[in-house]
Amino acid sequence: MADSAAKVDEFKANAAKAAIELVKPGMRLGLGTGSTAYHFVEAVGGLVRNGLEVICVPTSEATHAHAEKLGIPLSSLDETPQLDLTVDGADEIDDQLRLIKGGGGALLREKIVATASDRMVVIADDSKVSKTLGSHPLPIEVVRFGLRATMRLIEALAAEAGCEGEIRLRPGQGDAPYVTDQGNLIVDCAFHKIPEPEVLAFAMKRVPGVVEHGLFLGLADIAIIGGADGVQAIHHPGA
Ligand code: 5RP
Repeated sequence: MADSAAKVDEFKANAAKAAIELVKPGMRLGLGTGSTAYHFVEAVGGLVRNGLEVICVPTSEATHAHAEKLGIPLSSLDETPQLDLTVDGADEIDDQLRLIKGGGGALLREKIVATASDRMVVIADDSKVSKTLGSHPLPIEVVRFGLRATMRLIEALAAEAGCEGEIRLRPGQGDAPYVTDQGNLIVDCAFHKIPEPEVLAFAMKRVPGVVEHGLFLGLADIAIIGGADGVQAIHHPGA
């Protein structure tokens, strides 16, 4: 790992370590997806090895496999429909705790799990904090049927919401597109700036082929950000 990549990974690990302080015995936890959430899952695994009793719902097959390997007791939202706390990463975070998620392709399960949780805590390194969302492409999960028509409608409605940029199907292995855990596709929208995330979110929900978009609005309660000066918290403006 190059030096700067190692530093960023240390910042992610520090954010995860700070979030683990919020975990209490008996909690029902949502486990996020991605390289930052990975550190949190590792830390939960350590606590479980030392006797902590928690029950966890993973947000992806990858996190499920990781948590299972660590011996973390797992459940599903069918068995455990309400969670106390979900800890997950993000691709971008603004000062109102609005997020872009889905860089790792798990946005649908992540949003379902976060919504089923009393609290969502975001963990990230400080490169993820931005003044205006949009520097990370916005992932949108879509069904295969009518893909081109769906992409055209996303483009048209996004433009009405003040967002323009390249919209491309996420590539997978070889010539195949990337396929989510739910068997859907992802289009990544390089808008660069999303002036009004709520307006765009509403517009994207009007596209029948859209299953879910990666704007997480009003879901996160705290973001714990790791950086060169240690960890800092961003609280929800309403908190
Ligand atoms: C996966 C996600 C991840 O939380 C997001 O992509 C951040 O990942 P990382 O912690 O690896 O930077 O939304 O769908």
